[in-house]
Amino acid sequence: MPILSREKYWILETEHTAYAFGVNAHGLLVHAYWGARLPFAEDYPLPPESGDYASWSGPSHLVPEEYPAHAGAKFVEPCLKTTFADGVRDTVLRFGAAEVVGENELRVTLRDAHYPLTVVLCYRVHEAHDLIERWAEISNTGNTDDASITLERVWSALWHLPWGGQYRLSHLFGRWFEEWQLRRELLQPGVKVKESRRITTSHSANPWFALDRGGADETQGEVWFGVLAWSGNWKLAAEVTEYGATRLGIGVNDWDFAWRLNAGETFTTPASLAGYTAGGFGAASRTLHDYARAQLPHGKTLHPVLYNSWEAVFFDVNEASQMAVAERAAQMGVELFVMDDGWFHGRAIDNAGLGDWWPDERKFPNGLTPLIERVNALGMDFGLWIEPEMVNPDSDLYRAHPDWVIHFPTRARSEMRNQLILNLGRTDVQEYLITLLDKLLAEHNIAFIKWDMNRNVSEPGWPDAPGDARELWVRYVQGVYRVWSTLAARHPRVLWQSCSGGGGRVDYGMLRMVDQFWVSDNTEATARLGIQEGFSQLMPAITMESQVTHMGRPLLSLPFRFHVSMMGVLGISDDLLKWSEADLQTGAEQIAHYKEIRPIVQLGDQYRLLPAQGQDFTAVQYVSQDKAEGVLFAFRVHLPEPARIPPIYLRGLAADARYAIDGFDAVRSGAAWMNTGLRLELGNGESTVRRIRRVE
Ligand code: GLA
Repeated sequence: MPILSREKYWILETEHTAYAFGVNAHGLLVHAYWGARLPFAEDYPLPPESGDYASWSGPSHLVPEEYPAHAGAKFVEPCLKTTFADGVRDTVLRFGAAEVVGENELRVTLRDAHYPLTVVLCYRVHEAHDLIERWAEISNTGNTDDASITLERVWSALWHLPWGGQYRLSHLFGRWFEEWQLRRELLQPGVKVKESRRITTSHSANPWFALDRGGADETQGEVWFGVLAWSGNWKLAAEVTEYGATRLGIGVNDWDFAWRLNAGETFTTPASLAGYTAGGFGAASRTLHDYARAQLPHGKTLHPVLYNSWEAVFFDVNEASQMAVAERAAQMGVELFVMDDGWFHGRAIDNAGLGDWWPDERKFPNGLTPLIERVNALGMDFGLWIEPEMVNPDSDLYRAHPDWVIHFPTRARSEMRNQLILNLGRTDVQEYLITLLDKLLAEHNIAFIKWDMNRNVSEPGWPDAPGDARELWVRYVQGVYRVWSTLAARHPRVLWQSCSGGGGRVDYGMLRMVDQFWVSDNTEATARLGIQEGFSQLMPAITMESQVTHMGRPLLSLPFRFHVSMMGVLGISDDLLKWSEADLQTGAEQIAHYKEIRPIVQLGDQYRLLPAQGQDFTAVQYVSQDKAEGVLFAFRVHLPEPARIPPIYLRGLAADARYAIDGFDAVRSGAAWMNTGLRLELGNGESTVRRIRRVE
């Protein structure tokens, strides 16, 4: 049983890890253990007592409260902050009840000592995936005529790290065109905050973390890691208290946030998932990858090789040109033909059309069906780009509903890329989009949608908001989820891609709808090596769309650019009508090669053998889960002479089995390839992709 429940004490066990907490003698719900699974239930420590404390500190400094509310003498970061209708801003939570639901869910109810406020802490044990999922449900249990309660902070979880040692936080940062940069820094006393205030997950940080102490690396060391499954404003606060305790709170951002919780209503936070491994950052990533793959709407279906029109012709799409290029794409072996921006009513450049999601009459006088039929006749599926959350002021939709955008009536509406954001918190906007997009999908044979989101919020006003206008940040995201998942449910065949000007909306909240992400608008292959490595910290290769474009040409060869993109879901976005016969031939060969290794890349375990960020020689390996096959990618960007090419030690092979590797005569044991390594002679700007095969 993954949940062991004793008298007000609970142990959650996954295959290799455990998490324990309970009510201590002072009546506080307190964290007790998080780490490797222990042999016996008696091995786990009891919830610590508060001990003595001086006049300058409260008990929460000394005991790790599982979900501290802002109350009493607590000077640490709380999970919950409220204001009651009478102005009281002190939330005193007492243990109420606990219930195990089914096999793997635990619900612990806390109640305020005076007000009708209930907090249910929810835990789901993902036993096989070695992850614990946490979220909280906050209810106003008053009668209908009772006053509302204002929530000012409501986090999903506080993750307590084992006592002692100095922890190092690994996190991701970046910006548009340079997402997914990895940093590791030692935590100091105080609070280190990462967040988004942009209404999306953001390019500049991601709600993913890894904490280690004692110097974990890719292959070894204790790592506590996790994510927040949320696609809007989020906040992560890693705190080292003055008593040396380390904890990490994560949830919806409380910046500019408030939520009016009326009597009878419940606020449910997004979930945070976290895990522990002694196998280093590589094992932490693979744990998340396995879980993410299990969430994908289309499961283990292999993702198709795609063509995308954006880097080829930008907005300049029309029936004839797309039919011509489709021919070439099909000849090369492309399986999915995606028409990006530019196809809809009034769209010539980026200053018009967003909102009017029907085909542009000049570019597609007969609608989209002739093109789709041609694409299908060539043996490919058809995909389309949309950006449903946006309007250009120059659009029929905006002219009809200028009040539908996020704005303050007394302020100018800042445009970014000439566009404004529809307030998806409004149910009328949601309904409009569901109807319009449902029609688009019902009337056309569309197998793939790239859903884009190309600006961040400004002037975050919501005139006539039904609740507190600051609910916008959360209601907007709930609205996006509602529109998107309604469409996904009605059109289950469609494969969805999440894009926000590249990797601005990549998170575990999206996984309920999407199978694939656009990772970055930067497709220059050497930059991409680092970007993809950062992305791989939290997401598996099957979700990582990667395209061969003109970027990096002529310095980087076509095979090099293909090899970089073959490490995820391969795509091409370049004007194929301008490719030479030789290039088309190379493209066809690379696509054929990719199709052979695709199951290993998309469904196998990933090993980052030699880091890419900041390095000029990098290698990544994928191994099928039965360890029968693998594939090794290596890239030499630029090493000056005398070049010291590092040896490559393979990983993840069966030690006793024998393996052959393309380009090497010897058949050696997995242990030999992993412990003695191999060398590849590559020149500057060269790359290689080698199959690894188990030999019986
Ligand atoms: C964003 C996306 C690109 C492309 C353009 C179209 O920038 O990231 O891939 O779709 O929009 O306008």
